[in-house]
Amino acid sequence: MHSHLLSALDDGVRNHEEAIDLIHSFYDIGYRKLITTPHINSDYYRNEPDTIRHTLKELKDLVAKENIPISIEAAAEYYLDEELMKKVGAREHLLTFGQSYILFETNFLNEPYQLQDFIFQVITQGYKPILAHPERYGYMTMEKAEELHDRGALLQINIPSILGYYSRPIQRLAIKFIEQGWVDFLGSDCHNHHYMQLLKEAPRDRNFRKAVDLPLLNYTL
Ligand SMILES: [Fe+2]
Repeated sequence: MHSHLLSALDDGVRNHEEAIDLIHSFYDIGYRKLITTPHINSDYYRNEPDTIRHTLKELKDLVAKENIPISIEAAAEYYLDEELMKKVGAREHLLTFGQSYILFETNFLNEPYQLQDFIFQVITQGYKPILAHPERYGYMTMEKAEELHDRGALLQINIPSILGYYSRPIQRLAIKFIEQGWVDFLGSDCHNHHYMQLLKEAPRDRNFRKAVDLPLLNYTL
């Protein structure tokens, strides 16, 4: 429920062929449904819902042509910035999946001052916010994560974090989340074939196996 498979919309796949290759691999390792989430960020990726829908349609047509029995939907990975706060303030419709879930990420260094306000406002509007990869933020602690969770933010851990792709401290935090059972969703955050290699190795990892045994909301999608 977190990947970057829509051609040229962000730093994920560069063309549909690359996406199709990855989707074949997803199918081969057992995935049957993908919710891909292009970045929406006012500085780098100013993707609009129409562009996302259009690119998704092209990709779905190719998946059908290739006869890959996998379903694909798209939403977005929203970056928490002023532009997003404006959209929320104007009650603009946000891209969701499942039960009104919206996936969002933040600045990697400092906790954004709008974080609590954002969570409160979107919940008030009937959305369920999911914080993408909490383990990757420099400002994140177990206490902070618990507080955000208590305020209604769901937590999505990246599978590559569990396997140590980013760094040891990120891996350690991801494992702590799993041990505490504070994982609502697992996501691949797949951008390219490097990530796919890790997804293939994941089932042999003890912590990954512990994570898939949690009552993840992935199973409800
Ligand atoms: Fe992502």
